[in-house]
Amino acid sequence: MGKTAFITGIAGQDGAYLAKLLLDKGYRVIGGARRSSHIVTWRLEELGALADTEIVDLELGEMLNIYRILEKYQPDELYNLGAQSFVAASFEQPLYTADIDAMAVTRLLEAIRTVSPQTRYYQASTSEMFGKVVETPQTENTPFYPRSPYGVAKLYGHWMTINYREAYGLHTSSGILFNHESPVRGENFVTRKISLHLSQIKHGMRDVLELGNLDARRDWGFAGDYVEGMWRMVQAEKPDDYVLATGEAHSIREFIKYTAQALGMAIEWRGKGPDEIGIDVKTNKTIIQINPKYYRPAEVEHLIGVAEKAREKLGWTPSTNFRELVEMMTIADERRVVENRVCG
Ligand code: NAP
Ligand code: GDD
Repeated sequence: MGKTAFITGIAGQDGAYLAKLLLDKGYRVIGGARRSSHIVTWRLEELGALADTEIVDLELGEMLNIYRILEKYQPDELYNLGAQSFVAASFEQPLYTADIDAMAVTRLLEAIRTVSPQTRYYQASTSEMFGKVVETPQTENTPFYPRSPYGVAKLYGHWMTINYREAYGLHTSSGILFNHESPVRGENFVTRKISLHLSQIKHGMRDVLELGNLDARRDWGFAGDYVEGMWRMVQAEKPDDYVLATGEAHSIREFIKYTAQALGMAIEWRGKGPDEIGIDVKTNKTIIQINPKYYRPAEVEHLIGVAEKAREKLGWTPSTNFRELVEMMTIADERRVVENRVCG
């Protein structure tokens, strides 16, 4: 019999890639999704993982819901990917974010400890915990300085994961993952917003792409590579914490440049600060503007990680570089726009 894995946040980007990876490895995959008017399944469908994934109702705010799931399925592995994962939203909804991104980790760990202690646990920690970075590049030993309610909540979950490992001997690992993207990334995140909106502009379905801080830099990798790293952490004999990153950082401006290139467009920048605009060189129209509503109350300016420990101990390295990632996302979005398909 193959192993059973339970994935929280199955409807999200990483949930879909991880489900596909585990199904291909022969796992029974059970995914938790929030009950609402409809469950988001397009990502699993697009990756060919929908038919074989068992989806059950899971609300991370509900202790007994979590408890019953652990008691019933007794999974070999649990990947906690469910979260309010949008940093900008966490400034407007700090308490909800704390409940789902911080307290729910304790709910899951308590349920594991009580009714399913053999379950190996993966916690989706984040480079946002480095926030206003105190050293560059960041490793597992870099001190944390979160800059958003999201980052603070995730830091709590990170330390709880370590604490349950040390206090109760549970197999709990935490992946400190730098930004990872894909064609099934949520449309609110800046990469997918750029690949989708510029594709729409090229095909006359939108006039302008509105953005916030163009100078922020991120270490962007491909989600498909990162779920492989999650799985490797859970297979390791000893639970531990690992950074997954590409070791390269790029600005939002560079992401725009390469997206435009993939679409056969070129952008010329004029002006400064909130008055900066991006002009389509072919049509001479303004197609990018700054809207200060996308500025954050506290910004994370520059993240870049070192995944040396994951390479050494888990044999993990990313397979997709920045240019390939941008092209992959842009090709997928342009095709959706041309075929008039909505994926978001
Ligand atoms: P995502 O696409 O936003 O997926 C998160 C999933 O969590 C969504 O399907 C969402 O459900 C679900 N969820 C939200 N609130 C919930 C609740 N109260 N109860 C149950 N489920 C709930 O995020 P992702 O990019 O796949 O990221 C996966 C995890 O890794 C997240 O924990 C994120 O914080 C973390 N992370 C991501 C990155 C990255 O760059 N992608 C980097 C570091 C860490 P709905 O579909 O119903 O909204
Ligand atoms: N979303 C968004 N929308 N971001 C913008 C925009 C915009 O219009 N304009 C500029 N940005 C800047 C943000 O200010 C930020 O500096 C950067 O683009 C990246 O923003 P997001 O794509 O929203 O990602 P994030 O880095 O804040 O958070 C993602 O990565 C974290 C790992 O570091 C999320 O996936 C988190 O869940 C994850 O933990």
